[in-house]
Amino acid sequence: MNDVFYKFGKLEICDLDDLVALEKICFPHAWTEQQFWLCIKQKEYYIFGLKKAGKLAAYMSFQHIIDEIEILKLAVHPAHRRKGIGKRLLGLVLQNCMNMGIKKAYLEVRRSNTAALALYTGFGFVQTGIRKGYYPDNKEDALLFSLNLITRRKD
Ligand SMILES: CC(C)(COP(=O)(O)OP(=O)(O)OC[C@H]1O[C@@H](n2cnc3c(N)ncnc32)[C@H](O)[C@@H]1OP(=O)(O)O)[C@@H](O)C(=O)NCCC(=O)NCCS
Repeated sequence: MNDVFYKFGKLEICDLDDLVALEKICFPHAWTEQQFWLCIKQKEYYIFGLKKAGKLAAYMSFQHIIDEIEILKLAVHPAHRRKGIGKRLLGLVLQNCMNMGIKKAYLEVRRSNTAALALYTGFGFVQTGIRKGYYPDNKEDALLFSLNLITRRKD
């Protein structure tokens, strides 16, 4: 990914339409506009994005809980995939989190999501558990992962 072309920043209410449109492209069970609106309005939720020529190429949302974050969504527009955008966005957001004093990031991911699993494990996330049959639509397992940001800071 060439940083010159992609602008990183926190997403705001003015990005809502683009967020909802990209979410619908990336997830079969998409968050609604109302869910994103609440996410942007509430101070413990954050959504960051990467834009190319003003168009949203990727976003990542998380919830801040004391000194931890739970990653909620990470999505890259299909036209921008396999170019290092997801990895770059994850890295930029986690760097911001470390600057905020966050010590740990955790998330859950579908067992079948090979792209996300490769991205997270390649980044250093470690599997910590399984929630059997967690997803209601197909009873798929959720795999739980976490990343210690303090250890990462010392790398
Ligand atoms: C998962 C996702 C965010 C990856 O974004 P991306 O920008 O294509 O990922 P990157 O190009 O940064 O890839 C980083 C690494 O992830 C892995 N990876 C990414 N896509 C992959 C795929 N389709 N198959 C296998 N590995 C993949 C690779 O290890 C890759 O490193 P490499 O290119 O050096 O081999 C993207 O596929 C996506 O938006 N999927 C739909 C939404 C989703 O499922 N989000 C995750 C759950 S919230």
